[in-house]
Amino acid sequence: MEGVTATLSKPALKIGPYEVDPPVVLAPMAGITNVAFRQLCQEYGAGIYVCEMITARAVVERHPGTMHMMTFGEHEKPRSMQLYGVDPKTMAEAVRIIVGEGLADHVDSNFGCPVAKVTRKGGGAALPFKRKLFEAIVRESVKAAGDTPFTVKFRIGIDDDHHTFLDAGRIAEAEGAAAVSLHARTAAQRYSGQADWTKIAALKEAVTSIPVLGNGDIFSAADALRMVDETGCDGVVVGRGCLGRPWLFGELEAAFQGRPQPTPPNLGEVAAVLRRHTELLIEHDGHDKAMRDIRKHMAWYLMGFPVGSELRRGFAMLSSMDQLDDLIAQLDHDAPFPEAATGPRGRQGSPGKVTLPHGWLDDPDDDCVPEAEDMHSGG
Ligand SMILES: Cc1cc2nc3c(=O)[nH]c(=O)nc-3n(C[C@H](O)[C@H](O)[C@H](O)COP(=O)(O)O)c2cc1C
Repeated sequence: MEGVTATLSKPALKIGPYEVDPPVVLAPMAGITNVAFRQLCQEYGAGIYVCEMITARAVVERHPGTMHMMTFGEHEKPRSMQLYGVDPKTMAEAVRIIVGEGLADHVDSNFGCPVAKVTRKGGGAALPFKRKLFEAIVRESVKAAGDTPFTVKFRIGIDDDHHTFLDAGRIAEAEGAAAVSLHARTAAQRYSGQADWTKIAALKEAVTSIPVLGNGDIFSAADALRMVDETGCDGVVVGRGCLGRPWLFGELEAAFQGRPQPTPPNLGEVAAVLRRHTELLIEHDGHDKAMRDIRKHMAWYLMGFPVGSELRRGFAMLSSMDQLDDLIAQLDHDAPFPEAATGPRGRQGSPGKVTLPHGWLDDPDDDCVPEAEDMHSGG
Protein backbone atom coordinates (compact mmCIF):
# COMPACT_ATOMS: atom_id res chain seq x y z
CA MET A 1 0.00 0.00 0.00
CA GLU A 2 2.84 2.40 0.76
CA GLY A 3 3.85 2.72 -2.86
CA VAL A 4 0.35 3.68 -3.99
CA THR A 5 0.63 6.73 -6.22
CA ALA A 6 -1.19 8.05 -9.24
CA THR A 7 0.23 6.53 -12.41
CA LEU A 8 -1.69 8.58 -14.94
CA SER A 9 -1.80 12.27 -15.47
CA LYS A 10 -5.26 13.02 -16.78
CA PRO A 11 -7.07 16.33 -17.10
CA ALA A 12 -9.03 17.22 -13.96
CA LEU A 13 -12.50 15.70 -13.71
CA LYS A 14 -15.18 18.30 -14.37
CA ILE A 15 -18.85 17.70 -13.68
CA GLY A 16 -20.62 20.69 -15.15
CA PRO A 17 -18.90 23.73 -13.69
CA TYR A 18 -17.34 21.78 -10.79
CA GLU A 19 -13.76 20.60 -10.84
CA VAL A 20 -13.59 17.38 -8.83
CA ASP A 21 -10.06 16.89 -7.52
CA PRO A 22 -9.31 14.17 -6.61
CA PRO A 23 -11.71 12.52 -9.09
CA VAL A 24 -13.59 10.69 -6.35
CA VAL A 25 -17.32 10.41 -5.72
CA LEU A 26 -18.97 8.92 -2.64
CA ALA A 27 -21.61 6.59 -4.09
CA PRO A 28 -25.18 7.33 -3.07
CA MET A 29 -26.20 4.68 -0.53
CA ALA A 30 -29.71 4.59 0.84
CA GLY A 31 -29.73 4.57 4.62
CA ILE A 32 -26.02 5.47 4.74
CA THR A 33 -25.03 8.66 2.91
CA ASN A 34 -27.04 11.09 5.02
CA VAL A 35 -25.66 14.49 6.00
CA ALA A 36 -23.84 13.06 9.04
CA PHE A 37 -21.96 10.37 7.14
CA ARG A 38 -21.16 12.73 4.27
CA GLN A 39 -19.73 15.31 6.65
CA LEU A 40 -17.57 12.66 8.28
CA CYS A 41 -16.22 11.47 4.91
CA GLN A 42 -15.59 15.01 3.69
CA GLU A 43 -13.36 15.72 6.66
CA TYR A 44 -10.83 13.27 5.17
CA GLY A 45 -10.71 14.31 1.54
CA ALA A 46 -12.23 16.30 -1.27
CA GLY A 47 -14.59 14.94 -3.92
CA ILE A 48 -18.32 14.80 -4.53
CA TYR A 49 -20.43 13.26 -1.78
CA VAL A 50 -23.85 12.18 -2.98
CA CYS A 51 -26.93 12.26 -0.75
CA GLU A 52 -29.18 9.24 -0.20
CA MET A 53 -31.56 8.52 -3.04
CA ILE A 54 -34.61 10.77 -3.09
CA THR A 55 -37.82 9.79 -4.86
CA ALA A 56 -38.89 12.36 -7.46
CA ARG A 57 -42.54 12.03 -6.59
CA ALA A 58 -41.86 12.63 -2.90
CA VAL A 59 -40.10 15.89 -3.84
CA VAL A 60 -43.04 16.96 -5.99
CA GLU A 61 -45.44 16.16 -3.16
CA ARG A 62 -43.10 17.68 -0.59
CA HIS A 63 -43.14 14.67 1.65
CA PRO A 64 -41.82 15.91 5.05
CA GLY A 65 -39.48 12.94 5.64
CA THR A 66 -37.99 13.39 2.20
CA MET A 67 -37.53 17.14 2.66
CA HIS A 68 -35.60 16.35 5.88
CA MET A 69 -33.40 13.85 4.00
CA MET A 70 -32.52 16.59 1.53
CA THR A 71 -30.54 18.49 4.19
CA PHE A 72 -26.96 19.50 3.38
CA GLY A 73 -24.13 20.68 5.60
CA GLU A 74 -22.94 24.28 5.49
CA HIS A 75 -19.69 23.38 3.78
CA GLU A 76 -20.97 20.93 1.19
CA LYS A 77 -20.06 22.20 -2.25
CA PRO A 78 -21.39 21.05 -4.61
CA ARG A 79 -24.48 19.81 -2.77
CA SER A 80 -25.16 16.60 -4.62
CA MET A 81 -28.54 14.88 -4.68
CA GLN A 82 -29.71 11.68 -6.33
CA LEU A 83 -33.22 11.31 -7.71
CA TYR A 84 -35.17 8.19 -8.52
CA GLY A 85 -38.08 8.25 -10.93
CA VAL A 86 -39.76 6.51 -13.85
CA ASP A 87 -41.83 9.34 -15.31
CA PRO A 88 -40.21 12.13 -17.36
CA LYS A 89 -42.78 14.69 -16.15
CA THR A 90 -42.38 13.90 -12.45
CA MET A 91 -38.59 13.80 -12.72
CA ALA A 92 -38.53 17.14 -14.51
CA GLU A 93 -40.88 18.66 -11.95
CA ALA A 94 -38.69 17.41 -9.09
CA VAL A 95 -35.57 18.79 -10.78
CA ARG A 96 -37.30 22.13 -11.30
CA ILE A 97 -38.16 22.32 -7.60
CA ILE A 98 -34.64 21.35 -6.53
CA VAL A 99 -32.93 23.77 -8.88
CA GLY A 100 -35.52 26.54 -8.66
CA GLU A 101 -35.45 26.57 -4.88
CA GLY A 102 -31.67 26.20 -4.69
CA LEU A 103 -31.86 22.89 -2.83
CA ALA A 104 -28.84 21.27 -4.56
CA ASP A 105 -26.01 22.08 -6.97
CA HIS A 106 -25.84 18.73 -8.77
CA VAL A 107 -28.56 16.18 -9.51
CA ASP A 108 -27.69 12.54 -10.16
CA SER A 109 -30.23 9.90 -11.20
CA ASN A 110 -30.59 6.27 -10.21
CA PHE A 111 -30.97 3.72 -13.01
CA GLY A 112 -29.03 1.00 -11.23
CA CYS A 113 -31.18 -0.15 -8.33
CA PRO A 114 -31.62 -3.97 -8.47
CA VAL A 115 -34.12 -4.24 -5.60
CA ALA A 116 -37.25 -6.22 -6.56
CA LYS A 117 -39.73 -3.64 -5.25
CA VAL A 118 -38.12 -1.11 -7.64
CA THR A 119 -37.49 -3.22 -10.77
CA ARG A 120 -40.96 -4.78 -10.43
CA LYS A 121 -42.33 -1.34 -11.27
CA GLY A 122 -39.90 -0.82 -14.14
CA GLY A 123 -37.64 1.47 -12.10
CA GLY A 124 -33.92 1.41 -11.33
CA ALA A 125 -31.88 -1.02 -13.42
CA ALA A 126 -34.99 -2.16 -15.34
CA LEU A 127 -35.63 1.25 -16.87
CA PRO A 128 -32.80 1.80 -19.39
CA PHE A 129 -34.08 -1.25 -21.31
CA LYS A 130 -36.95 1.03 -22.39
CA ARG A 131 -34.56 3.30 -24.26
CA LYS A 132 -37.15 5.86 -25.44
CA LEU A 133 -38.55 6.28 -21.94
CA PHE A 134 -35.01 6.53 -20.55
CA GLU A 135 -34.17 9.11 -23.22
CA ALA A 136 -37.26 11.16 -22.34
CA ILE A 137 -36.42 11.11 -18.62
CA VAL A 138 -32.86 12.31 -19.23
CA ARG A 139 -33.93 14.90 -21.81
CA GLU A 140 -36.66 16.44 -19.63
CA SER A 141 -34.49 16.37 -16.51
CA VAL A 142 -31.54 18.03 -18.26
CA LYS A 143 -33.87 20.68 -19.63
CA ALA A 144 -35.34 21.33 -16.19
CA ALA A 145 -31.87 21.44 -14.62
CA GLY A 146 -30.68 24.30 -16.85
CA ASP A 147 -27.13 25.17 -15.78
CA THR A 148 -27.14 22.67 -12.93
CA PRO A 149 -25.35 19.46 -13.95
CA PHE A 150 -27.56 16.39 -14.25
CA THR A 151 -25.75 13.02 -14.25
CA VAL A 152 -26.86 9.43 -14.76
CA LYS A 153 -25.83 6.30 -12.85
CA PHE A 154 -26.60 2.84 -14.20
CA ARG A 155 -25.53 -0.81 -14.27
CA ILE A 156 -24.37 -3.04 -17.14
CA GLY A 157 -27.95 -4.11 -17.70
CA ILE A 158 -30.70 -6.34 -16.41
CA ASP A 159 -28.83 -9.62 -16.84
CA ASP A 160 -26.31 -11.14 -19.22
CA ASP A 161 -28.89 -11.40 -21.99
CA HIS A 162 -29.96 -7.77 -21.66
CA HIS A 163 -27.05 -5.34 -21.52
CA THR A 164 -28.15 -1.72 -21.63
CA PHE A 165 -25.10 0.29 -20.56
CA LEU A 166 -23.73 1.28 -23.97
CA ASP A 167 -27.10 2.55 -25.21
CA ALA A 168 -27.73 4.25 -21.86
CA GLY A 169 -24.34 5.98 -22.00
CA ARG A 170 -24.80 7.18 -25.57
CA ILE A 171 -28.35 8.39 -24.89
CA ALA A 172 -27.32 10.23 -21.71
CA GLU A 173 -24.46 11.88 -23.59
CA ALA A 174 -26.69 12.91 -26.50
CA GLU A 175 -29.37 14.31 -24.19
CA GLY A 176 -26.97 16.57 -22.32
CA ALA A 177 -26.05 14.67 -19.16
CA ALA A 178 -22.93 16.12 -17.51
CA ALA A 179 -21.41 12.69 -16.73
CA VAL A 180 -22.32 9.01 -16.47
CA SER A 181 -21.36 6.42 -13.85
CA LEU A 182 -21.33 2.68 -14.40
CA HIS A 183 -21.64 0.14 -11.60
CA ALA A 184 -20.05 -2.68 -13.54
CA ARG A 185 -22.50 -5.41 -12.57
CA THR A 186 -25.85 -6.49 -13.97
CA ALA A 187 -28.94 -6.16 -11.80
CA ALA A 188 -29.12 -9.98 -11.71
CA GLN A 189 -25.71 -10.03 -10.02
CA ARG A 190 -26.94 -7.67 -7.27
CA TYR A 191 -23.70 -7.18 -5.29
CA SER A 192 -22.30 -10.69 -5.82
CA GLY A 193 -19.27 -11.85 -7.78
CA GLN A 194 -16.89 -9.28 -9.17
CA ALA A 195 -17.54 -6.05 -11.01
CA ASP A 196 -16.49 -6.38 -14.66
CA TRP A 197 -14.24 -3.38 -15.17
CA THR A 198 -13.79 -4.18 -18.88
CA LYS A 199 -17.33 -2.80 -19.32
CA ILE A 200 -16.17 0.53 -17.86
CA ALA A 201 -13.43 0.60 -20.50
CA ALA A 202 -16.02 -0.19 -23.19
CA LEU A 203 -18.28 2.61 -21.97
CA LYS A 204 -15.35 5.01 -21.96
CA GLU A 205 -14.80 4.19 -25.63
CA ALA A 206 -18.47 4.69 -26.49
CA VAL A 207 -19.00 7.92 -24.55
CA THR A 208 -16.40 10.44 -25.56
CA SER A 209 -17.61 13.96 -24.81
CA ILE A 210 -18.56 13.74 -21.12
CA PRO A 211 -16.80 12.13 -18.13
CA VAL A 212 -17.29 8.41 -17.54
CA LEU A 213 -17.00 7.35 -13.91
CA GLY A 214 -16.25 3.78 -12.89
CA ASN A 215 -17.91 2.04 -9.97
CA GLY A 216 -17.70 -1.36 -8.34
CA ASP A 217 -15.34 -3.07 -5.90
CA ILE A 218 -13.02 -0.23 -4.96
CA PHE A 219 -11.98 -1.24 -1.47
CA SER A 220 -8.61 0.52 -1.31
CA ALA A 221 -6.76 3.45 -2.82
CA ALA A 222 -4.76 0.98 -4.90
CA ASP A 223 -8.03 -0.40 -6.36
CA ALA A 224 -9.05 3.13 -7.40
CA LEU A 225 -5.79 3.82 -9.23
CA ARG A 226 -5.95 0.40 -10.87
CA MET A 227 -9.49 1.08 -12.11
CA VAL A 228 -8.40 4.37 -13.69
CA ASP A 229 -5.34 2.70 -15.16
CA GLU A 230 -7.17 -0.34 -16.56
CA THR A 231 -10.30 1.38 -17.86
CA GLY A 232 -9.27 4.95 -18.64
CA CYS A 233 -12.28 6.18 -16.61
CA ASP A 234 -12.33 9.85 -15.62
CA GLY A 235 -13.13 9.27 -11.98
CA VAL A 236 -14.17 6.65 -9.45
CA VAL A 237 -17.33 6.14 -7.42
CA VAL A 238 -16.81 4.46 -4.06
CA GLY A 239 -19.57 2.78 -2.08
CA ARG A 240 -19.15 -0.15 0.29
CA GLY A 241 -15.40 0.37 0.74
CA CYS A 242 -16.01 3.38 2.98
CA LEU A 243 -18.56 1.72 5.26
CA GLY A 244 -17.09 1.99 8.75
CA ARG A 245 -14.03 3.49 7.06
CA PRO A 246 -14.68 7.15 6.14
CA TRP A 247 -10.92 7.86 6.24
CA LEU A 248 -10.69 5.89 2.97
CA PHE A 249 -11.32 9.27 1.30
CA GLY A 250 -8.06 10.54 2.82
CA GLU A 251 -6.26 7.49 1.42
CA LEU A 252 -7.85 8.07 -2.01
CA GLU A 253 -6.88 11.73 -2.02
CA ALA A 254 -3.28 10.91 -1.08
CA ALA A 255 -3.06 8.25 -3.78
CA PHE A 256 -4.44 10.49 -6.53
CA GLN A 257 -2.09 13.28 -5.47
CA GLY A 258 0.91 10.98 -5.39
CA ARG A 259 1.45 11.38 -1.64
CA PRO A 260 2.31 8.47 0.70
CA GLN A 261 -0.64 6.68 2.24
CA PRO A 262 -1.65 7.99 5.68
CA THR A 263 -1.24 5.51 8.52
CA PRO A 264 -4.58 3.78 9.05
CA PRO A 265 -6.17 4.39 12.47
CA ASN A 266 -5.71 2.06 15.42
CA LEU A 267 -8.75 0.84 17.34
CA GLY A 268 -8.74 3.82 19.72
CA GLU A 269 -8.81 6.21 16.76
CA VAL A 270 -11.52 4.19 15.02
CA ALA A 271 -13.60 4.40 18.20
CA ALA A 272 -13.21 8.20 18.17
CA VAL A 273 -14.50 8.29 14.58
CA LEU A 274 -17.41 6.06 15.47
CA ARG A 275 -18.22 8.34 18.40
CA ARG A 276 -18.11 11.41 16.17
CA HIS A 277 -20.34 9.67 13.61
CA THR A 278 -22.87 9.06 16.40
CA GLU A 279 -22.72 12.69 17.53
CA LEU A 280 -23.29 13.93 13.98
CA LEU A 281 -26.28 11.62 13.60
CA ILE A 282 -27.76 12.89 16.87
CA GLU A 283 -27.33 16.47 15.65
CA HIS A 284 -29.22 15.70 12.47
CA ASP A 285 -31.82 13.13 13.47
CA GLY A 286 -32.17 13.32 17.24
CA HIS A 287 -31.05 10.78 19.83
CA ASP A 288 -33.34 7.81 19.26
CA LYS A 289 -33.09 7.62 15.49
CA ALA A 290 -29.33 8.18 15.69
CA MET A 291 -28.93 5.26 18.10
CA ARG A 292 -30.91 2.96 15.82
CA ASP A 293 -28.99 4.14 12.78
CA ILE A 294 -25.45 3.86 14.16
CA ARG A 295 -25.99 0.21 15.17
CA LYS A 296 -25.77 -0.93 11.56
CA HIS A 297 -22.32 0.70 11.24
CA MET A 298 -20.80 -1.09 14.25
CA ALA A 299 -19.72 -4.31 12.56
CA TRP A 300 -18.09 -2.28 9.79
CA TYR A 301 -16.13 -0.07 12.19
CA LEU A 302 -14.98 -3.05 14.26
CA MET A 303 -14.32 -5.36 11.28
CA GLY A 304 -11.17 -7.46 11.75
CA PHE A 305 -10.21 -5.92 15.11
CA PRO A 306 -9.72 -8.19 18.12
CA VAL A 307 -13.04 -7.43 19.88
CA GLY A 308 -14.80 -10.19 21.84
CA SER A 309 -18.30 -11.29 20.88
CA GLU A 310 -19.94 -9.92 24.01
CA LEU A 311 -18.41 -6.49 23.49
CA ARG A 312 -19.45 -6.57 19.81
CA ARG A 313 -22.99 -7.42 20.87
CA GLY A 314 -22.96 -4.44 23.20
CA PHE A 315 -22.02 -2.11 20.32
CA ALA A 316 -24.67 -3.65 18.07
CA MET A 317 -27.37 -2.99 20.70
CA LEU A 318 -26.24 0.51 21.65
CA SER A 319 -28.86 2.79 23.19
CA SER A 320 -27.07 5.80 24.69
CA MET A 321 -23.92 7.91 24.48
CA ASP A 322 -22.92 6.94 28.06
CA GLN A 323 -23.15 3.31 27.10
CA LEU A 324 -21.03 3.99 24.00
CA ASP A 325 -18.32 5.59 26.13
CA ASP A 326 -18.43 2.60 28.47
CA LEU A 327 -17.99 0.18 25.59
CA ILE A 328 -15.21 2.24 23.99
CA ALA A 329 -13.32 2.21 27.31
CA GLN A 330 -13.26 -1.59 27.15
CA LEU A 331 -11.52 -1.70 23.74
CA ASP A 332 -7.79 -2.27 23.24
CA HIS A 333 -7.07 1.20 21.89
CA ASP A 334 -3.60 0.30 20.63
CA ALA A 335 -4.76 -2.55 18.39
CA PRO A 336 -3.47 -1.68 14.89
CA PHE A 337 -5.73 -1.50 11.85
CA PRO A 338 -6.03 -5.09 10.56
CA GLU A 339 -4.75 -5.76 7.04
CA ALA A 340 -7.75 -8.07 6.51
CA ALA A 341 -10.11 -5.09 6.88
CA THR A 342 -8.82 -3.44 3.70
CA GLY A 343 -10.64 -6.02 1.51
CA PRO A 344 -14.32 -6.30 0.53
CA ARG A 345 -16.94 -5.17 3.04
CA GLY A 346 -20.66 -4.43 3.01
CA ARG A 347 -23.43 -6.38 1.36
CA GLN A 348 -22.66 -9.01 -1.27
CA GLY A 349 -25.85 -11.03 -1.57
CA SER A 350 -26.36 -13.66 -4.19
CA PRO A 351 -27.37 -13.41 -7.83
CA GLY A 352 -31.01 -13.91 -8.77
CA LYS A 353 -33.59 -13.37 -11.46
CA VAL A 354 -34.65 -9.74 -11.80
CA THR A 355 -38.33 -9.09 -11.16
CA LEU A 356 -39.83 -7.03 -14.00
CA PRO A 357 -43.30 -5.77 -14.90
CA HIS A 358 -45.28 -8.19 -17.06
CA GLY A 359 -44.10 -8.08 -20.70
CA TRP A 360 -41.34 -5.56 -19.92
CA LEU A 361 -38.84 -7.13 -22.32
CA ASP A 362 -41.28 -7.35 -25.26
CA ASP A 363 -40.60 -3.92 -26.75
CA PRO A 364 -37.61 -1.74 -25.84
CA ASP A 365 -39.11 1.16 -27.80
CA ASP A 366 -42.37 1.27 -25.86
CA ASP A 367 -42.21 4.54 -23.91
CA CYS A 368 -45.30 4.13 -21.72
CA VAL A 369 -44.66 5.29 -18.18
CA PRO A 370 -44.92 2.34 -15.76
CA GLU A 371 -47.42 2.33 -12.90
CA ALA A 372 -47.40 4.93 -10.13
CA GLU A 373 -44.07 5.84 -8.59
CA ASP A 374 -42.95 4.96 -5.14
CA MET A 375 -43.10 7.68 -2.49
CA HIS A 376 -40.43 6.13 -0.33
CA SER A 377 -37.11 7.98 -0.44
CA GLY A 378 -33.92 6.33 0.71
CA GLY A 379 -34.38 2.93 -0.98
C1 LIG B 1 -26.49 -0.01 1.37
C2 LIG B 1 -26.43 0.42 -0.07
C3 LIG B 1 -27.36 1.34 -0.54
C4 LIG B 1 -27.31 1.76 -1.87
N1 LIG B 1 -28.18 2.71 -2.31
C5 LIG B 1 -28.05 3.21 -3.57
C6 LIG B 1 -28.87 4.30 -4.02
O1 LIG B 1 -29.72 4.80 -3.30
N2 LIG B 1 -28.66 4.76 -5.28
C7 LIG B 1 -27.73 4.22 -6.13
O2 LIG B 1 -27.58 4.67 -7.27
N3 LIG B 1 -26.97 3.19 -5.73
C8 LIG B 1 -27.09 2.70 -4.47
N4 LIG B 1 -26.26 1.71 -4.05
C9 LIG B 1 -25.21 1.22 -4.96
C10 LIG B 1 -23.92 1.99 -4.78
O3 LIG B 1 -24.10 3.36 -5.10
C11 LIG B 1 -22.80 1.41 -5.66
O4 LIG B 1 -23.18 1.53 -7.01
C12 LIG B 1 -22.51 -0.06 -5.36
O5 LIG B 1 -22.45 -0.28 -3.98
C13 LIG B 1 -21.24 -0.54 -6.04
O6 LIG B 1 -20.14 0.18 -5.59
P1 LIG B 1 -19.13 -0.42 -4.48
O7 LIG B 1 -18.61 -1.74 -5.01
O8 LIG B 1 -18.06 0.61 -4.34
O9 LIG B 1 -19.93 -0.64 -3.23
C14 LIG B 1 -26.32 1.24 -2.74
C15 LIG B 1 -25.39 0.31 -2.25
C16 LIG B 1 -25.44 -0.10 -0.94
C17 LIG B 1 -24.41 -1.09 -0.45
